Amino acid sequence: MKIVSLSLEQPDLIEQAARLLLEGFRQHWPNAWPEMESARQEVHEALETEKIIRAALDEDGRLLGWIGAIPEYDGHAWELHPLVVDPACQGQGVGRMLVADLENQVRERGGTTIFLGTDDENDMTSLSGMNLYPNVWEHIARIRNLKGHPFEFYQKQGYAIVGVIPDANGPGKPDIYMAKRVG
Ligand SMILES: CC(C)(COP(=O)(O)OP(=O)(O)OC[C@H]1O[C@@H](n2cnc3c(N)ncnc32)[C@H](O)[C@@H]1OP(=O)(O)O)[C@@H](O)C(=O)NCCC(=O)NCCS
Repeated sequence: MKIVSLSLEQPDLIEQAARLLLEGFRQHWPNAWPEMESARQEVHEALETEKIIRAALDEDGRLLGWIGAIPEYDGHAWELHPLVVDPACQGQGVGRMLVADLENQVRERGGTTIFLGTDDENDMTSLSGMNLYPNVWEHIARIRNLKGHPFEFYQKQGYAIVGVIPDANGPGKPDIYMAKRVG
């Protein structure tokens, strides 16, 4: 496996990247990219020059997963968005390698922090389906993963939960904010 930057000169990989968004998010986030057109648009946005877009390829050049990041806070902190691994290749370390590669990329650009929001729209964690106010941090401190929500994947890569937006996706559907110091 190798990790490379994606560019507009790779239309076949761009198409594969859009298809992965559709397939990777379908199960738990069906509204994220419901059809190819919105997925293609997302990939094109990730290809904008100031952003980072990195792709994991197998020996035959097939796309296994990809990751993007957007510079924020004058480049001190970058938002990880999006990350997806081919469902057929999940659980084999591809996601971990993409995150590690992104951290190197951000470090090389002088960034200190990577942050991300990871939604819970489908009762995947103990933070969903409830009113998190007023003691939001008590709920965060006791968070449990009920259905393989990716917050735990990020924790394994050293990311900490730094907050939550209650009801971000509708009542009882929060967005979980995470961050890591990489600089
Ligand atoms: C989340 C995702 C990127 C993880 O990629 P992956 O290649 O399957 O993960 P890895 O094989 O590198 O896993 C690294 C570790 O995280 C763990 N892990 C991976 N996904 C996990 C999950 N959903 N919940 C809990 N732990 C998880 C693995 O078990 C492994 O643990 P270990 O180090 O103890 O062996 C991938 O499952 C995916 O694309 N999911 C759909 C889209 C998505 O959720 N994107 C992120 C939205 S914010």
